[in-house]
Amino acid sequence: MKKHNFSAGPSILPHEVLQKAAEAVLNFNNSGLSILEISHRSKDFVAVMDEARSLALELLGLQNKGYQALFLHGGASLEFLMIPYNLLKTNGKAAYLDTGTWANAAIKEAKNFGETLVVASSKPENYNHIPKNFSIPTEADYFHCTSNNTIFGTQIQDFPNSPIPMVCDMSSDIFSRELDFSKFDLIYAGAQKNMGPAGTTLVVVKEEILGKTGRTIPNMLNYQVHIEKESMYNTPSVYAIYVSYLTLRWIKENGGVVGMQKRNNAKAQLLYNEIDNNPKFVGSANKEDRSAMNVTFLLTNEADKENFDLLCKEAGISGLAGHRSVGGYRASIYNAMPIESVQVLVDVMRKI
Ligand SMILES: Cc1ncc(COP(=O)(O)O)c(C=O)c1O
Repeated sequence: MKKHNFSAGPSILPHEVLQKAAEAVLNFNNSGLSILEISHRSKDFVAVMDEARSLALELLGLQNKGYQALFLHGGASLEFLMIPYNLLKTNGKAAYLDTGTWANAAIKEAKNFGETLVVASSKPENYNHIPKNFSIPTEADYFHCTSNNTIFGTQIQDFPNSPIPMVCDMSSDIFSRELDFSKFDLIYAGAQKNMGPAGTTLVVVKEEILGKTGRTIPNMLNYQVHIEKESMYNTPSVYAIYVSYLTLRWIKENGGVVGMQKRNNAKAQLLYNEIDNNPKFVGSANKEDRSAMNVTFLLTNEADKENFDLLCKEAGISGLAGHRSVGGYRASIYNAMPIESVQVLVDVMRKI
């Protein structure tokens, strides 16, 4: 039976990507060797790394603009610490927008390095919206925001024009829409939502913001070291990077971020229309801040839960449970999710 994978992460990947990734486990590039058993310094893998780094910049429109793309270890969570390590001056301040659990986790790490200013927070309303009309302190070393809040189903629609370097956690909406990415000085994303399997993190950084803290940074945590070593300071996550590379190629072949945005908007519109027009459901995020990636919703009557869950199971729907801090349901409809699967969910919602 066909499965419809709405998991928030690790999550759905394009079927073609999975097929090519499976082939490479047995015979990579017709070498007779598995991608799992070759040197990361082999000609074939270095070519993958180089093209993946270049494709990431190309898809974001950041080629030849002073940016470098890296594939690092440690997940987005390690970036929560690497960012202040590399950007927060000793005795400096960092500014953060608090829009959810992950933004909060980033704030907690920054506090270990210096003064952290929270410019605005939607925590009192359980993060159901994106705060607006805040100002970014010019005396801070950088401003950090989270473009898409995976747990709460909110997404920043309009980014501020930051007077200081702007850093953004795009873990759950990287390559999903067209934006002026040159507004950002550092973008990072754990691979396991829109880019590949868990195990690698994309970091895109404008080189000119580095090297200004006056602090000694351990090599593994130093962006400049990773840039110098072309993202191979130590053995990289070869397979996770290879699958990410295949996904980046798939994104390019399918119209780049513009193509992804078109697909994603159609899916989000289909699902939000159902939520808004079906009295059995209600959305949990404020309408103007709704995410096109993670659609969070609740049943208006909990008595329908058993029936809805059963119908979902019978239809092959998987990974729809909401995060415990919001409850209800969360349909993650990342780039690779076909609209047909969203239609299956909508059809089930109409049946109860
Ligand atoms: C927006 C966002 N940031 C950070 C993280 C943490 O990522 P990782 O598990 O790669 O450290 C997640 C995980 O779901 C996330 O959704």
